[in-house]
Amino acid sequence: MNPQILFQNRRRFIRSLSFGAALFTVPGLFAEELVRTPSQTEGPFYPDHLPLDTDNDLIIVNDAVTPALGEITHLSGRILDARGEPIRNALVEIWQVDNQGVYLHSHSNDHDRRDKNFQGFGRFLTGSTGEYYFRTIKPVPYPGRTPHIHFALKMKGRDKWTTQCYIKGEPRNEKDGVYRNIVDPKARAAVAIDFAPIKASRIGELAARFDILLGFTPGV
Ligand SMILES: [Fe+2]
Repeated sequence: MNPQILFQNRRRFIRSLSFGAALFTVPGLFAEELVRTPSQTEGPFYPDHLPLDTDNDLIIVNDAVTPALGEITHLSGRILDARGEPIRNALVEIWQVDNQGVYLHSHSNDHDRRDKNFQGFGRFLTGSTGEYYFRTIKPVPYPGRTPHIHFALKMKGRDKWTTQCYIKGEPRNEKDGVYRNIVDPKARAAVAIDFAPIKASRIGELAARFDILLGFTPGV
């Protein structure tokens, strides 16, 4: 091989290595700044019969014309491993009460008052960025609990992992048994998220961001 070409190739190789190293280092630093998301109980209301529609839009069931009641929220975040790197192919499931405080579960209180236009449950499979997205409602309280959204993560070779997120600044949080079970204040703060108005929205939609940093790396 022409030595000049070899040199160029080698230089390109070294450049790609250092670029790779930079990519590897940055998520690691990010992980140090982030707090691990605490796991929390699944609770008793994971749907006992999954709805026919299990997509990531909980506001519209199948092709219904009428949307769910409640404050529409665009809920998104990233699923990250212990090194702060995105997890691909994680199945993210959420479930929560409708705007009347009723779960999609046969043992939920006030089951006959359930909003039939709220899907109550949704799923999203992450891609290479680890990002997930749901359109849902801002959670409301029900007897005995502060507002929250349940999350379950299903990843190959791992047991199901569950947690819950809360509304930041909601006074009921401090009286909630599950929330108070999280002892570390930083971990508590990590599950209490903002539901912020979207300025451009004419119908008062909200945006909420909940990143989940796991304490393990799937497949390792
Ligand atoms: Fe719950």
